[in-house]
Amino acid sequence: MDEIRILGIVGSLRKGSYNRLALKAAQGLMPSGAVLNLIELHGIPVFNQDNEMSLPASVFEFKRQILAADAILFATPEYNYSLPGGLKNAIDWASRPYGESAWTDKPAAVMGASVGNLGTARAQYHLRQILVAQNMPMVSQPEVMIGNAAQLFDPDGKLSDEPTRQHIQKLLRALVKLVENSR
Ligand SMILES: Cc1cc2nc3c(=O)[nH]c(=O)nc-3n(C[C@H](O)[C@H](O)[C@H](O)COP(=O)(O)O)c2cc1C
Repeated sequence: MDEIRILGIVGSLRKGSYNRLALKAAQGLMPSGAVLNLIELHGIPVFNQDNEMSLPASVFEFKRQILAADAILFATPEYNYSLPGGLKNAIDWASRPYGESAWTDKPAAVMGASVGNLGTARAQYHLRQILVAQNMPMVSQPEVMIGNAAQLFDPDGKLSDEPTRQHIQKLLRALVKLVENSR
């Protein structure tokens, strides 16, 4: 069977982002036969529907990578009880123009890391609602909500908490299974 290519979307632009670090940990936990490549949201302008018929280069490349992937793994921070505006903005761009969304039918999973106790729970439910609009088949369980993130990563950025690593591994297995079932 062909290798399964998963695109991990880094929902934070921050240099020391725990969400990026969580995705980097996931890269080392992939099931055999699957790879995880990461994409950043740097350089994506604020959405303007006037430009949706001639996409800015950064958006065109973002869309291209989504279309080329077999599945998407979102890693979202929580900003004010929701997902960051930058991530919503990128999702909006890639959903346009009407009828040409890059997300449609693309299997997806969601995880998130936060310094708070609830580990992005509220952001993840908002994100899931948005993905319903794109008709994306989604992994329901496990829910990977990494709370108190500052305590779970080493100073060198490695995810050292073994239960969290195992939880991410379960999510990755579930996403790969979702892709296999949709082939
Ligand atoms: C504008 C803003 C709003 C935030 N709101 C929340 C929040 O509602 N819940 C929460 O758990 N953390 C909140 N935080 C803290 C984030 O969890 C923390 O900044 C986290 O490190 C962001 O993810 P990152 O490390 O991937 O950048 C907020 C941070 C910012 C900058």
